[in-house]
Amino acid sequence: MLGLLARTMMAKTCLVKPSTLVKPVSVTKIPGRYLAHQEGLPKLPVPPLRQTCERYLAMLEPIISEAEIRHTRQLMAEFLRSGGVGERLQKGLERRARKTENWLSDWWLQTAYLDFRMPVVVHSSPGVVLPRLEFHDRQGQIRYAAKLIAGVLDFKTMIDNETLPVEYLGGKPLCMNQYYQVLSSCRIPGPKKDTVVNHALGKRPPSHITVVHNFQFFLLDVYNSDGTPLTIDQLYMQLEKIWNSSLQTNKEPIGILTSQHRNTWGKAYNTLIKDKVNKESVRAIQKSIITVCLDAPMPRVSDELYRSRAAIQMLHGGGSRWNSGNRWFDKTLQFIIGEDGSCGLIYEHAPAEGPPIVSLVDHVVEYTKKSEMVRSPMVPLSMPQKLRFNITPEIKKDIEKAKQNMNIMVNDLDLKAFVFSNFGKNFPKSQKMSPDAFIQMALQLAYFRTYQACCSTYESASLRMFRLGRTDTIRSASSSSLRFTQAMDDPSTQNTEKVALLREAVQAHRAYTDMAIRGQAIDRHLLGLRKQAIEDLTSMPEIFMDTAYAVAMHYNLSTSQVPAKTDCVMCFGPVVPDGYGVCYNPMEEHINFSVSAFNSCEETDAAKLAQALQGALLDMRELLEQTPQAKL
Ligand code: COA
Repeated sequence: MLGLLARTMMAKTCLVKPSTLVKPVSVTKIPGRYLAHQEGLPKLPVPPLRQTCERYLAMLEPIISEAEIRHTRQLMAEFLRSGGVGERLQKGLERRARKTENWLSDWWLQTAYLDFRMPVVVHSSPGVVLPRLEFHDRQGQIRYAAKLIAGVLDFKTMIDNETLPVEYLGGKPLCMNQYYQVLSSCRIPGPKKDTVVNHALGKRPPSHITVVHNFQFFLLDVYNSDGTPLTIDQLYMQLEKIWNSSLQTNKEPIGILTSQHRNTWGKAYNTLIKDKVNKESVRAIQKSIITVCLDAPMPRVSDELYRSRAAIQMLHGGGSRWNSGNRWFDKTLQFIIGEDGSCGLIYEHAPAEGPPIVSLVDHVVEYTKKSEMVRSPMVPLSMPQKLRFNITPEIKKDIEKAKQNMNIMVNDLDLKAFVFSNFGKNFPKSQKMSPDAFIQMALQLAYFRTYQACCSTYESASLRMFRLGRTDTIRSASSSSLRFTQAMDDPSTQNTEKVALLREAVQAHRAYTDMAIRGQAIDRHLLGLRKQAIEDLTSMPEIFMDTAYAVAMHYNLSTSQVPAKTDCVMCFGPVVPDGYGVCYNPMEEHINFSVSAFNSCEETDAAKLAQALQGALLDMRELLEQTPQAKL
């Protein structure tokens, strides 16, 4: 997901112009608050050309050979020539920045998500594993699902009323647009590129969710006729009706079609919606506020393996035998609740990054902990509508193909989710170090110990200080990180020097982070120059055709911090065949991690990297604790 390229929102019912501010709908208790906030945010700057080019060369140093760098320097000198291609593209970008709300967001949405043709499952959509719940039966499952839906509706009220608290990063207010994109929205496949539709912005915003159980979809209206949300008891009763009317397990897993390669799914989609009944059912799913997946139990595993198994359930459902057909992977937000107490979600990445999703989750989880609400008098509610699908032989064939491909994908994913329980943010903080930078350096050390080299590394940095901002890349592999990782296991290096190198590497990482969140990192600027070249020039400048550029964009480590108040962890797949996807949620006294790789790659092994990561964190702590240091 992370190393890919970007996007904005294309809505069908209500075409959300990618570069305009999106106005929330529904009853507005603080009308205009959202727009006023958004308009007060700065626009994303275009960094100076020379600055990006110099930083690009510096970033290459640890990951490519000296000879390759020399060649790239020559290409760069030509690119930067006075009156040359670089200047021309930069001017084009600056013009674009003047004319749009955000020069990057449309390009990012298209390139990273909507033009990306790999399946969204594993390759793009992140999963979130929530703490295991204490129920083991259907009643518990339905009760929790009812509370969770009520929690989402409570959060939705804040969106509708524009009362959502503004978030801050480094003391600066953040763009809140992503919150307005995640409910009632859905990705739609196309034969060559996809779109995202956001029904929350239409004249009549949807009042229903979809529920899927045993591969069968239902439309559940979650508001009473007076506009009040259904109570937990009402939701419970409706879910129970759904459960009872979907007991057969021999149904076609129609949702598994959404797990296909996007071109394949785009074609199958057109076949599917030729039928009017199918089209209406698909539309009901797309419009729904969220989808709730009531999952069948997954294979039992030991407590030690539980987290990894739950991560698999959230990320892909376990294959066609298990819950992969109990999804609509195009749906932006799908909460998953298993009969065995497993709980989490999967979200389609095009409309938002992890942090807004996780803050919604924090709200919902808190909500579910509240003691039961006042019991309302029970007004009988009508049976939720079952969404019907007519399965023609052609659709059946598409489903069979999708099942096969899903099972190949499932077998290929190597995923390890675990808790590092020796310390959390508290330890680096006690050492006056940025916890995020400390964890990133541990990852660099783990990788270096495993491969005796460093690699191109991606960490997501938020650009939400800017209007419609999404992300840029923090390049965690730097000359400083390489010096530290080389020294760490070198017996000829004194511990005091190792500590100095660790501190320098942590500081360099933190400095890169500050530069990235202020819109001065290199990756999106380079993408912008490349996109501008496609629009303005007849041929691509050589710096983008260079081996060094390909190496720089091949992220063997794709990483992200997604912090949450809830003790959860996000997980995602690697972005290259020989890479790792690493996500973490640093809590005060422990860190939740997920590490993914592909089994088809002989060189990668999620459990091995996870082991090396734990070893690196412990060794770094030991080094700092055992080395006398000048007073911090
Ligand atoms: N000494 C003591 N404490 C320090 C410190 C130091 N030198 N440096 C930082 N800290 C503290 C911070 O004050 C903060 O305190 P808190 O726990 O009370 O909030 C905490 O340590 C965490 O800071 P740090 O580890 O430096 O990270 P961060 O919170 O600034 O986050 C990023 C860094 C890169 C993760 C963040 O800027 C970002 O961009 N997040 C978005 C990522 C994203 O979009 N991911 C989604 C991908 S789907």
